This record gives sequence, C-alpha cells and structure tokens, in this order.
Amino acid sequence: MTAPVITVDGPGGAGKGTLCHLLARHLGWHLLDSGALYRVTAQACLQAGVAWEDEAGAAAIAMALDVVFRPAPEGAVSVLLGGEDVSRAIRTEEGGRGASMVAAYPQVRSALLDRQRAFRRAPGLVADGRDMGTVVFPDAPLKIFLTASAEERARRRHLQLLEKGESVSLPRLLEDIRERDARDSRRAVAPLMPADDALHVDSTSIPVAGVVRRVLRVAVERG
Ligand code: C5P
Repeated sequence: MTAPVITVDGPGGAGKGTLCHLLARHLGWHLLDSGALYRVTAQACLQAGVAWEDEAGAAAIAMALDVVFRPAPEGAVSVLLGGEDVSRAIRTEEGGRGASMVAAYPQVRSALLDRQRAFRRAPGLVADGRDMGTVVFPDAPLKIFLTASAEERARRRHLQLLEKGESVSLPRLLEDIRERDARDSRRAVAPLMPADDALHVDSTSIPVAGVVRRVLRVAVERG
C-alpha cells in the first residue's frame, strides 16, 4: 500500500511551512519542502555560472543535484548542497526569486519530479509546495490550498526578516510577493492553483494553531 500524503499548496508566506512542520511533527510523518529543492537548484545554477535563461543547463543541474536535507535543532532542516550548508543562502529574497525563475522551466520541473515522489514513505508524508496536489501527488487523500492576502503575507515576512536582523522595506516586499505570485500563477507548466478536490483555507485572520487544528480535524474525519 502506498503511504498517505497530505499536500499543502499555496502562495509564499501563507504559513504553509509552519503548518506542514507542525502537521508532520504531530502525525510523526515525513516532510517534503519542495520549495527548498527549487531554491537549491537556483543556488547550484548560481554556483555553476548557469544563466537564468539557460533552461537545459538548469535542468542538468537539477538532475545532478547533490542535496541532503538534515534535521537541525528546534525542528529546522539544514540543506546541504555538495556537502556545504546553504540553508541560509537559499532562504533570502534573492534565493526565492531565483527559485521562481528556474521553477518556470518544464525541464527543471520534470527533473525534480522523481526526487519529490521519493519522499513518500511510510508512515506518511506532508508535502509543501505549489503543485503537490495537482501534479506531484494527484492521488493524495487530503489536499489543502492555503492562502492569505498579499498584504498579510508581506507583513509576516517583514516581521520574520526583522527578527533575523534584516531590514527590508515593506512596500518592496509586497511588490516582490505580487511579482512572484504572478510568475507562479501564470507559468505554463504546473502553475500555482488549487486541485479540484482541495480544501481551501484562508489564514489571513486565523492564527496558525487554528489552521493546524482545522486540518487535523479533517484528516481524522477522512481516516
Ligand atoms: O515555497 P518557497 O517560497 O520556498 O518556493 C520558492 C519558489 O519555488 C516559489 O516561488 C515557486 O516559484 C517555486 N516552487 C514551485 N513549485 C513548488 C514549490 C516551489 O514552483 N512545488
């Protein structure tokens, strides 16, 4: 029997990362942060000097990616690229922009498909991304589409960056978020969109604990 999967898709900053992390911990399941795979691919392209316009070059990098996800203290995950810890480097705004550029290439997406599906192991998987429910795990028994307004997502991101000691202007963040949403939603392959059978949750005014409770309740109802 294949292991069950809960897919969580939605735009950046809606709280998918926190939701997935808490769900995986609560259920004792594996976690796939698919965004990290696209971010690492972009980072590897940068390191190898592959231009953003070079789809075949980026796909070759994605195919040969030497990446390891290693659990770190406090539930965080360290990302090692060729043995080097790139966890911080890939989480910058620039890293996100690069990821969304390489993620628009069909050849890159197909190069990363099997790698993502390999995360599906017993007792189960919580998969975080943009196309988890539509493309990577279309047979998942529970699919969540998590959203929040762009303004609220920019506000949350701004707070996170301030906590890390980085100062970025809020209007600039909002502009970046809107630009990334547009690129992710309009691309030809695996655009950001809810699966037909996804449960829509708007986290704009619900704290993450409330979202987790709601999803767990549905997960239990569906067995
Ligand atoms: O989720 P995260 O912000 O880390 O994702 C970075 C970028 O990777 C997204 O903006 C999106 O362009 C891309 N991505 C994707 N498909 C996924 C996960 C992420 O296209 N399943």
